[in-house]
Amino acid sequence: MKVNPVGIERTELLHKGKANNVWATDDPRFLELEASDRISAGNGAKTDVISGKGEANNLISMAIFSQLEEKGIPTHYVGPGSNAASKIVLKAEPILLEVIGRFFATGSYVKRYECQNMLEFDGVYIEYTYKSDNAGDPVIPNDAIVALGILTKRELGYIEYLTEQVAYTIRDFFAECDGKLIDFKIEFGRLPNGQIVVIDEISPDTCRILDAKTGESLDKDRFRKDMGNVAEAYHEMAKRVAGITEG
Ligand code: TMP
Repeated sequence: MKVNPVGIERTELLHKGKANNVWATDDPRFLELEASDRISAGNGAKTDVISGKGEANNLISMAIFSQLEEKGIPTHYVGPGSNAASKIVLKAEPILLEVIGRFFATGSYVKRYECQNMLEFDGVYIEYTYKSDNAGDPVIPNDAIVALGILTKRELGYIEYLTEQVAYTIRDFFAECDGKLIDFKIEFGRLPNGQIVVIDEISPDTCRILDAKTGESLDKDRFRKDMGNVAEAYHEMAKRVAGITEG
């Protein structure tokens, strides 16, 4: 098992989220993010436990964050954590937005606009939702992001630029794993020096990926839509990612 090469030890559990645990460490600059086997959909309306999901997601997320860093896209990723489901990250102040990138229209986009499912966008279509469980994470227009002081206009432009870079990087990454990226969600935070970086996770919990040959779902949609073989999908993606990163 890969163990924390940076010598940072986790100390107390700070927060138990819907799918991830956040740990303090013995160095105040760092946190440990532990992906759990918990799965939920519909803002917690439906929950379950998928054996091995945390390790699978963390392996995939670490591989993607390493790739983003290699491409010069700033992230809070530091390295593997104390177990196979954990990674060490720089502490960042989360920005209260979910940034969604879509190559094809599906999910909430199709419900909202009643358009053809899997309509292909010209490039990547980017939209934002306001992170608030109470408000139900509504879509938020660019002007409201600025008016509410969440980001300046310049920062919003920078986030849009970074999201495009992330989009093409992870589309290529999943293509190497014989996967077709449909859409994804990413989050951003601010480091203590003010730098905006990609935070959190990028995994089959936060992306829609289809098998490039069969068109089968290899992500959390299997759980959302009761399609069965949920654990198998996570394990299959982890196996493919390990194949391209270790081989
Ligand atoms: P949507 O079509 O339901 O808006 O989802 C778009 C993408 O964002 C899809 O890849 C799933 C991901 N996503 C999350 O990771 N977390 C969320 O809370 C939501 C609503 C979507």
